[in-house]
Amino acid sequence: MSEAPFPSHRRLGYARAVSQPLPDTLDVIGPDTFAQHGYPHAAWKRLRNEAPVHWFDLPGGVGFWAITKREDLVWISKQPRRFINAPRLAIFEQGAPVKGPRTMARHLLNMDPPEHAEFRKAASGWFTPRAIQRRADEVRRIARDLLEPMAGDGEEREADFVGEFTAPLTLHVLADMLGVPRSDWKLMFQWTNQIVGSADEEYQTQSPDPLIAGPQSALQGMFEYFQALSAERRKEPRDDIVSVLANSTIQGSPMPAFELMSYYVLLVIAGNETTRNAASGGLLALIENPGEMQKLRDEPGLVPTAVEEVVRWTTPVIQFCRTPVEDVEIRGQQIKAEDSLCLLYPSANRDEDAFEDPDRFRVDRKPNPHVGFGIGEHFCLGANLARLELRVIFDELAHRMESVELAGSFDRMRSCFLGGVKRMPIRYRLRP
Ligand code: HEM
Repeated sequence: MSEAPFPSHRRLGYARAVSQPLPDTLDVIGPDTFAQHGYPHAAWKRLRNEAPVHWFDLPGGVGFWAITKREDLVWISKQPRRFINAPRLAIFEQGAPVKGPRTMARHLLNMDPPEHAEFRKAASGWFTPRAIQRRADEVRRIARDLLEPMAGDGEEREADFVGEFTAPLTLHVLADMLGVPRSDWKLMFQWTNQIVGSADEEYQTQSPDPLIAGPQSALQGMFEYFQALSAERRKEPRDDIVSVLANSTIQGSPMPAFELMSYYVLLVIAGNETTRNAASGGLLALIENPGEMQKLRDEPGLVPTAVEEVVRWTTPVIQFCRTPVEDVEIRGQQIKAEDSLCLLYPSANRDEDAFEDPDRFRVDRKPNPHVGFGIGEHFCLGANLARLELRVIFDELAHRMESVELAGSFDRMRSCFLGGVKRMPIRYRLRP
């Protein structure tokens, strides 16, 4: 900790020594806990208060330091040369080795400066506020097209909110931007589920097609698919992201094939599995907090703050890792170069030192310095798009949803990486 002083030791004075040893079994990223009960907020709160930087062994794998306070997460994320993204993207149940052969993919999230910025620039023109704003009408149209058949004549109905609305919406928007033809959207959807749901049995056994039967083959399927599409777009470029990336150059040469394919995979996964879960979890939060739902109906001008609160509350990305390039001390803990630091975004977003009343869902929360989209060098490239989609969704719902309740169980994906929602049966009335 020689370069930048760690501020909170002096300013906030909460850098307590661990008052008592925490049990090693404290479940902080267990996929079963998440699938059965949702995020382990009580365990994270205990860590924030008793051991904000705490080591966990990972049976059968390499352990990690759990970083649970917002201030620490921000401090680490803002020093991308000192805390790098390669080689460990996140903690996975299988305990992926820290060192070892090439990872399954090479994309923005496991690249570091200065290379990272150059790759990021290749697609960033498509995600600026202005570029995204141009898509507003199209996103609205897609949302309405999906809501129309759900509404019927305004009578009470039941539907799976994920399957009929949030999943197709995010998929259509992104596939359109990439330039994937409609006939292939379903395939795209299965592939992303299989890669992200690699710890969930349902996604691994669902399909008899060997091409889409597991994360490795799903990845290969996606690579082959986008290789063919890139070749087409090199011959005949169109106004889509595949045309831009397939024709992009890095240091004067065409983007290498492995990195190019990884880029598409990242966009498809990051663009689908996150906004979908924020929207589903956001509706659940409104159902569970009817007063907040009423506030939004009475004052639809609150949609933008409500969307920020939905991202804070649901925090769809559970964790990413950083690896220090030198020994470092954080809150009194001696951390070795090459140890893994696991940044727990949902914990940072409930940090008592950063948010007033953090365990309350409030659609008018302001300020709301959440880190649901991360912060610093790797700040979510799709944040403007996600915000647009979520604003359209909650605006439509605030105006049209006359009643809504859960009609079955809110079914979570088994994962220690993404807060996925597989199904959300609802009973509702929608104004046609
Ligand atoms: C509510 C929805 C979303 C959430 C919560 C979310 C969250 C995140 C987080 C936490 C990161 C890592 C940031 C960091 O390390 O500091 C990230 C990165 C990224 N996200 Fe999102 N994301 C969302 C939607 C999207 C969408 C719609 C796209 C569009 C395709 C997207 C594309 C990306 C990409 C490409 C990166 C890597 C950026 C980099 O490494 O430079 N995300 N996102």
